[in-house]
Amino acid sequence: MHVDRYERYWMWAATGMLALFLGAIVLTAIAGSAHPASHVETVDPETLHVTGEFATPGVTVRPDGGVTVVMRAEFYVFRPEVIRVPAGRPVTFRITSPDVLHGFQIVGTNVNLTVAPGYVSEVTTTFARPGEYLVVCNEYCGLAHHLMQGKVIVEAAP
Ligand code: CUA
Repeated sequence: MHVDRYERYWMWAATGMLALFLGAIVLTAIAGSAHPASHVETVDPETLHVTGEFATPGVTVRPDGGVTVVMRAEFYVFRPEVIRVPAGRPVTFRITSPDVLHGFQIVGTNVNLTVAPGYVSEVTTTFARPGEYLVVCNEYCGLAHHLMQGKVIVEAAP
């Protein structure tokens, strides 16, 4: 079969670009410890304000010394807005939304969740040392999206 020389060049160029972009995705995923979502759990967005764990968002200490942070991401605030967790202990964030799609990104870490109404997003991480982290919503959710921020304060473990 005859393939024109320039067509062949472009086919190789396109193949090369595909390999390059796929490689970049794989490399950055490995380097940044990014994982695809692997947790599927549903919740009723209509009633989560009044019943269940999301009615009273907050931080609880588990028997193993780790903590669970139950949160709501909603127009245009994270509840709770300021989260205090211990350093060097596993911290599990459980977040859902009663309204629209939000994001939960802890700047400077690999914690980055999409928060969809009807679903519970969960991630477990450990903060190595005390410090303060900015939390931002990284999904455009409305006019005050840019104001939707929170804070994680990592304290020295007792
Ligand atoms: Cu919530 Cu953007």
